[in-house]
Amino acid sequence: MAVRPITQIGAPVLRQRARALTHAELASPEVQALIDDLIDTMHDARGAGLAAPQVGESVRIAVIEVPADPPHPYRPAIPLTVLVNPVLTPIDDEQFAHAEGCLSVPDLRGLVPRAARVRVQAWDRHGAAIDEIVVGLTAATYQHEIDHLDGVLFVDRADPRTLATMAEFERHQMPAVIAAARA
Ligand code: NI
Repeated sequence: MAVRPITQIGAPVLRQRARALTHAELASPEVQALIDDLIDTMHDARGAGLAAPQVGESVRIAVIEVPADPPHPYRPAIPLTVLVNPVLTPIDDEQFAHAEGCLSVPDLRGLVPRAARVRVQAWDRHGAAIDEIVVGLTAATYQHEIDHLDGVLFVDRADPRTLATMAEFERHQMPAVIAAARA
């Protein structure tokens, strides 16, 4: 287990479509070690999620976790989740503007239109089927991480006029975001 460097915007691996894994590959010590490294790196960076291309591996694995305490006080907690070969399907047409940042895009936030409800089909780290429906901020987090597996970054989807540094976001946009999350 190890904390790995996080690839930054401009690295070609962040723009590639990552490849799917077979059950046999998932069971290998190398891929299980990669999953442990993704979890360690996400925890070290205090991120809500991390996808394999963000540690330089172009395979379809993402990890997600939102602790019940700060630094995400307005976000619903998400237990540690490992998604392998995930597929997302919106349940309906409803979207909302989600405030996002990314460990691969330093010091930037923006508002991204995301589906409000999605079905998630994937394998867990042991190859068992996951089939669940996630909503709201949790659904947006899933969409952000799975975008990474298709070479898409949040800045591609954000309204460019909403882009802000972390400091300006906290100064000007955070109160509205917290109010919307509570509503
Ligand atoms: Ni990201």
